[in-house]
Amino acid sequence: MTIQDVIALKEQGINEARQAGTLSDIEAVRIRYLGRKGVLQDVMDNLKSVPPEGRRDFGRCANELKQDLTRVLDERKSVLSAASKVAENKQFDVTMPGAWRQPGTRHPVTQVIEEAIRIFSILGFTVADGPDMETEYHNFDALNTPADHPSRDTQDTFWLDKKTLLRTQTSPVQIRVMESCKPPIRIIAPGRCYRRDTTDATHSANFHQIEGLYVDHKVSMADLKGDITFFAHQMMGPNVKVRFRPHFFPFTEPSVEYDFSCHVCGGSGCRVCKNSGWIEISGAGMVNPKVFDIVRYDPEVFTGYAFGMGLERIAMIKFGIEDIRLLYDNDVRFLSQFS
Ligand code: DAH
Repeated sequence: MTIQDVIALKEQGINEARQAGTLSDIEAVRIRYLGRKGVLQDVMDNLKSVPPEGRRDFGRCANELKQDLTRVLDERKSVLSAASKVAENKQFDVTMPGAWRQPGTRHPVTQVIEEAIRIFSILGFTVADGPDMETEYHNFDALNTPADHPSRDTQDTFWLDKKTLLRTQTSPVQIRVMESCKPPIRIIAPGRCYRRDTTDATHSANFHQIEGLYVDHKVSMADLKGDITFFAHQMMGPNVKVRFRPHFFPFTEPSVEYDFSCHVCGGSGCRVCKNSGWIEISGAGMVNPKVFDIVRYDPEVFTGYAFGMGLERIAMIKFGIEDIRLLYDNDVRFLSQFS
């Protein structure tokens, strides 16, 4: 037997292995070539009769026969057993009940946004949008915020470069809308806001607001109070009370902060409202004539109101959620409660 014979036997074995159609065919090839009385053993028996100078190469070829054939047999075996598993699965039982997948639910914040859009659309408001990456001009300057106002500080604002930032409020959408449209205007703008707040039970560096803006002839504080109260009753139920407290914002004059009576205790005081009976929602006011000047609206002709709303806060009191972080964990066990 020569080296060429061994190589030919190897090729032949590999061919047979590749053509094996069943697992038992594979086993038969293995026994025929690598078994105790098989081809490999025959080759090894022939080693003695090979001249000494050719034994090394002959031995190497015998070894290759064993290793290469074993590898091909293993590969073929895994292909055939995978295929047979697929075939087994095909015989499924059509009378078995299907696998049940829990349907998803809309996120509480999304639900509040959609509900707010529904409520304000009754009052004739449409939805406006603005970028999360804002200019300093839209987020601060055009909103009449003084150059040295602490909210501009790097401790409070995520600055992207000298003139660009992640918006700290949805109020810049007011400016964008007034820059591109003429009055009358009636828009709400839900969206993400960013502040460098340390996260705790009531703060998150990323949160949501809804901005509102109504500009027309003779819009008054009474409109603001009436519309916010209508919203509160629709969103929280007819028993919720609304109160307005004087406050300051650079882009409104006069300005207020407004609170809803605590939904959880009905106003008698509890943990959620820190025993005050009230929950602060956000700020509002009559659009400052200086802002109208900036967007080239005539303050002698038009008046307007604007408001902001903290969406997480509304979601938390509406659904009785005590920790804002739960809203961002994306834990299905938590989220599925709000279907
Ligand atoms: N942008 C303010 C904030 O984030 C909230 C606010 C106050 C919005 C007064 C308004 C407004 O539109 O008129 O704290």
